Amino acid sequence: MGILSGKKGLIFGALDERSLAWHVALACASAGAEVVLTNTSSAIALGTIDSLAKEHGMLLVPCDATKLDDLRALFTRAQEHVGGKLDFVLHGVAQSMNLRRHKGYEEANYNYFQQTLDVSALSLHKILRTALELDAISEYGSVVALSYLGSERYCDGYNDMGDAKALLESIARQFGAIYGAHNKTRVNIVSQSPTPTKAGGSWGGLDYWYRYTDQLSPLGNASADDCAQLCVALFSDLMRSVTMQTIYSDGGFGRTVLARGARL
Ligand SMILES: NC(=O)c1ccc[n+]([C@@H]2O[C@H](COP(=O)([O-])OP(=O)(O)OC[C@H]3O[C@@H](n4cnc5c(N)ncnc54)[C@H](O)[C@@H]3O)[C@@H](O)[C@H]2O)c1
Repeated sequence: MGILSGKKGLIFGALDERSLAWHVALACASAGAEVVLTNTSSAIALGTIDSLAKEHGMLLVPCDATKLDDLRALFTRAQEHVGGKLDFVLHGVAQSMNLRRHKGYEEANYNYFQQTLDVSALSLHKILRTALELDAISEYGSVVALSYLGSERYCDGYNDMGDAKALLESIARQFGAIYGAHNKTRVNIVSQSPTPTKAGGSWGGLDYWYRYTDQLSPLGNASADDCAQLCVALFSDLMRSVTMQTIYSDGGFGRTVLARGARL
């Protein structure tokens, strides 16, 4: 019996074993939850999510989180599979073509910029809107989206992803109020330390930034597993009155100016 025993959840964004969503999926399953996985068809073909699904008996449903028709079909299929409403949803979706193509913020390609906002932020709006229309999340459900400190501070090279994260966090607050009134579902953000993943790697400075934040954070960087355990806690009934919050899984970095013992 784990703290998510009897709960059913939908997890967006596991690509390979480095993905934060992959760690969250495993932690939720270990805590007793039934998990449905989703990613785009191309990510399923390119990544290893298929093996995660097979190994742990999880349903895997292709879906582009920017497409309302896909999302409607996904929520319908996931509910049929688990035999009712979902208790939790993880949004671990992000991509910036400006970052990938090494376009500086001041020379952004605006088509890419709009894609960044659509994939990395508006997808949360579309997910929550679709779930609300289908009434697919149970009372006292819990939704978590993953963000980064670049939403509120300048982080060199984080580029249009900083704008996307600011929008993502705002969407979480707005829907937190709507869902709270609807059926007490919580919507929170986990703001995670730099973590070596595919999306993290597209930020050119990740290696340097990873070492820097590790040195400056009183607890060192939070690992992907630390992030996953925090998500499990937020999905559980232990945090039923926490909503519309950005919670930092960052070893204290965001509150530190000078670190003891740092050797930079
Ligand atoms: N890695 C870090 O340093 C770090 C730090 C803080 C927050 N985050 C956030 O964590 C989340 C997960 O990223 P990650 O670091 O695990 O990298 P990742 O590359 O493993 O995950 C990103 C996922 O987004 C998916 N995705 C992209 N476009 C999509 C679409 N249209 N529809 C559905 N899925 C789509 C990708 O297929 C991939 O699985 C992201 O929101 C990211 O910004 C990452």
